[in-house]
Amino acid sequence: MPNRALWDLRARVHGTTADDRFYDVESFLAGRQTLTSLEREMVGDVAGKDLLHLQCHFGMDTLNWARLGAKATGVDFSPVAVERARELADRAGLAATFVEADTQRLPAHLADGFDLVVASHGVLCWIGDLDAWMSGAAMALRPGGSLVLVDLHPAYQTIASLDPFVVDWPYGGGEAHRETISDTYASPGLETEPQESVQYPYSLGEIVTAAATAGLTVTSLGEHVAVDLDPRGLLTRGEDGLYRLPFGDSHLPILYSLRARLPD
Ligand SMILES: C[S@@+](CC[C@H](N)C(=O)[O-])C[C@H]1O[C@@H](n2cnc3c(N)ncnc32)[C@H](O)[C@@H]1O
Repeated sequence: MPNRALWDLRARVHGTTADDRFYDVESFLAGRQTLTSLEREMVGDVAGKDLLHLQCHFGMDTLNWARLGAKATGVDFSPVAVERARELADRAGLAATFVEADTQRLPAHLADGFDLVVASHGVLCWIGDLDAWMSGAAMALRPGGSLVLVDLHPAYQTIASLDPFVVDWPYGGGEAHRETISDTYASPGLETEPQESVQYPYSLGEIVTAAATAGLTVTSLGEHVAVDLDPRGLLTRGEDGLYRLPFGDSHLPILYSLRARLPD
């Protein structure tokens, strides 16, 4: 399975090094809310709802949804991530279910079981079959339920560096791009054992079309130019604490947010 060794390794490392930019496990255990304001706003009140978190990594965000009252299930294809997620749930004293599965082939027992399907921050770039991913999300929803996707904007993904301004990635198309990775976005100084990876660029048009093809009705599509985290370590933080991507006198979007509903 492409990318699995890379994510097994990252699931082992994330949250364990002093310079980790994203996964502070101790403060999470002490009660810190790890979800961004954009995710909270897009997903809304989760109390009592069945929530499926796709590509949950080692479960910190899934467990935050549980902390907010959701009956949460996390899915990830990395057995290391799933094992760590279960351990973290025990340590946090929070109830959640974790399932090891490819999000392009969700198991049938998840069908029709959820009010919300949620995925965020570094999701679709790992997915070769976008239609299969969207059909899986639609299959897991109950009629009237919604998919909420908050992910890196394809315009932002095209940029390799800001100074000098270098673009090295296509705006969509879905073609496989292979590279050997020996670091992680979470700990910029850390060198890791080299792993083969495959990533896929999708345009916003391709993502919205895949949602519609899966039978979902898109109810909102947001493009966000000021966000509260710097997903790839490219951005500088303004005095208001938000990160922006300068583009001449204006700004390019960093994240997009999609909400799409399975009709009744
Ligand atoms: C950048 S992380 C997502 C961030 C996550 N929202 C979090 O809370 O940290 C990407 C995740 O996607 C998972 N993944 C990649 N390809 C997958 C696939 N085909 N099926 C299931 N999980 C996958 C990886 O194991 C990893 O945990």
